[in-house]
Amino acid sequence: MTVQQQFSITRTEISGHNVFDLAKKFGTPTYVYDAETIRQRIEQLKQFDVIRFAQKANSNIAVLNLMRENGVVVDAVSSGEVHRAKAAGYALNATPHQIVYTADIFDREALDLVVHDNIPVNCGSPDMIVQLGKLAPGREITLRINPGFGHGHSNKTNTGGQSSKHGIWHDQLDQCVDLAKEHGLIVAGLHMHIGSGTDFEHLSQVCDAMKQTALAVGDSIHTISAGGGLPTPYKDSDQPLDIDRYFQLWDATRKELESEFGHDVSLEIEPGRFLVAECGYLISEIRAIKTMGENLFYLVDAGFNNLARPILYGSYHPMSVAFANESTEETQDVIVGGPLCESGDIFTQEEGGFVCSRELPKASVGDLLVIECAGAYGYVMSSNYNSKPMAAEVLIDGGEAHLIRKRQTPDDIIAGESIPS
Ligand code: LLP
Repeated sequence: MTVQQQFSITRTEISGHNVFDLAKKFGTPTYVYDAETIRQRIEQLKQFDVIRFAQKANSNIAVLNLMRENGVVVDAVSSGEVHRAKAAGYALNATPHQIVYTADIFDREALDLVVHDNIPVNCGSPDMIVQLGKLAPGREITLRINPGFGHGHSNKTNTGGQSSKHGIWHDQLDQCVDLAKEHGLIVAGLHMHIGSGTDFEHLSQVCDAMKQTALAVGDSIHTISAGGGLPTPYKDSDQPLDIDRYFQLWDATRKELESEFGHDVSLEIEPGRFLVAECGYLISEIRAIKTMGENLFYLVDAGFNNLARPILYGSYHPMSVAFANESTEETQDVIVGGPLCESGDIFTQEEGGFVCSRELPKASVGDLLVIECAGAYGYVMSSNYNSKPMAAEVLIDGGEAHLIRKRQTPDDIIAGESIPS
């Protein structure tokens, strides 16, 4: 089932809660997530045997807990993400594996942790195979293969091809299977993730590449992972991915492998954005409105320290205004910027840093500006640049707005720093 989004440039509520009430209660800037939207996205992927949430997209433990309660397992790309998963109630030594460590390297801490906690590993480099094999022979592993092509919404999110550092180069497959054997490891699964925010055409090519790769490895393969990368709509004109068609493609590949190998092959999917992008809103307050020659700026109290996607990739996010007083239907072209002392702190920009304007309602200082579809790669990529506190996070579930992360205080920001005596 695919639902075409309709974005509006004005808004009074988020999931039944008045935007001003939320701002009054939790302050601004604040991230708000709607639990029901996450559940709907999970439901759309239920045909896959395993939904493995790429928690890097949104790793608040309340979000992870919601995933877990709805049958979704997680990947982890660091010891910090393993720690979060455990804090959210994910178990070690369960089937299917509730936490899988997927990376291109082990830092020393992560290697110790996966060995100690017996966390399954998806190896993205020959060195990972060697390092794990030396400490934990006898284990089953999966290999992340770079099929030689990739695609993403930006060059920076393309994770395939020879300019990418990700995965094991497809030509080195045999070598890596031998390396695994030499170190007492069994290659039981394969994984491919060619980029984030990709499209149907490229995602289907992965399916073919997976089939060839799995056939080349043979019947030790029990799991195949389609990776993530599923696109989500950020504009009315963005076509949502046809999930049923996508599943059918992978299911057919899985069935071919099953008949070839004579045993079941589990089909995993590993989305981040698809599960959480649309549930998220970043509420900010318009604090200044000023003109620069012919340009009009709305300056809000959220910056790229809160949401880095526009400055990093020129990403487009829908925006809406909640009026403090009289609403108006009048619109104007504006540039939306944040409070940071850096020219790039602009939410309306295109890839390459080209500032552009957006048609938004005629607003006043004190109105709220809501940046939408901000649930994926929003809070998780935030920083304390300009010593700005990290925003609060709120989860709306069952009609209640729950604070799931407190806004940082100035003391939180300097905690851990010290002046040499
Ligand atoms: N699996 C692996 C191995 C990944 O590296 C990623 C994302 C995913 C799954 C999930 O991809 P998704 O389904 O979310 O597209 N910061 C960028 C996105 C970086 C994605 C990194 N890896 C952005 O804001 O668009």
